Amino acid sequence: MFPHVILHIGMSLDGRLDWVSIDQGLYYEIAARLAPDAILSGSNTILAADIPEEIPEEYREMAAEMESQPDDTRQLLAVVDSQGRIRNWPAIRQQPWWRQAIALCSAVTPKRYLEDLRDVGVETIVAGDERVDLRTALEEMNARYGVETIRVDSGGILNGVLLREGLVQQISTLIHPQLVGGSSPRSMFVAPDLQSKEGVIPLRLKDFQRLSEDVIWLNFDVINDEIK
Ligand SMILES: NC(=O)c1ccc[n+]([C@@H]2O[C@H](COP(=O)([O-])OP(=O)(O)OC[C@H]3O[C@@H](n4cnc5c(N)ncnc54)[C@H](OP(=O)(O)O)[C@@H]3O)[C@@H](O)[C@H]2O)c1
Repeated sequence: MFPHVILHIGMSLDGRLDWVSIDQGLYYEIAARLAPDAILSGSNTILAADIPEEIPEEYREMAAEMESQPDDTRQLLAVVDSQGRIRNWPAIRQQPWWRQAIALCSAVTPKRYLEDLRDVGVETIVAGDERVDLRTALEEMNARYGVETIRVDSGGILNGVLLREGLVQQISTLIHPQLVGGSSPRSMFVAPDLQSKEGVIPLRLKDFQRLSEDVIWLNFDVINDEIK
């Protein structure tokens, strides 16, 4: 089965992810409501998060407490990393926010990197030749780990690939009252320009809510006949 894929994005009114100040409390409050089994991130997002090697004591305690629960309900973290760019897996694995970390790789991922992942206890899914074949990798997450719902926590590049490949069923956006502007592709949807209206993705508004004085949540279904 192909999982239900939700893009969850905090952005400015003009859809930018750069420079905008995101209300992290609201972002994660809505993220929890989406109740995913797994988080999917791009390698740039994980590198930008700059997770420190040194894990704070309170995080260690939180992780140990969660691990000791008979039913550890934390999500999985899957990171798309065909180039083997993420080096701080031990620190990522020890964060209390997720149960397990998985690297999504491809045929070009250096062998040495795959060995290093195994040595630090990170499981891998290898799919695709150059880049990760996302459809196959997400199907494998369902088959191997029973993942039914995935929340994508990523920038415009991975969002763009998933959208253009028709792999997204839901888009949850927190619109912040800021305008960034600019001509660089730092929006929530980075992809080659369309040549016709053919590729426009129709959406249906599912819910909306004023979350605070001026942050609005818009939750859309993607009208996509391809994945059922
Ligand atoms: N505001 C928000 O809601 C939010 C949420 C998360 C992140 N962010 C921000 O977004 C920024 C990073 O975003 P980004 O757009 O630069 O990068 P990104 O989406 O984090 O990473 C790009 C990912 O796309 C993959 N990719 C590219 N082309 C592909 C293809 N054809 N097939 C399969 N995979 C492909 C890359 O894989 P390889 O590594 O294999 O090449 C990489 O994992 C950071 O500044 C972060 O803070 C914002």
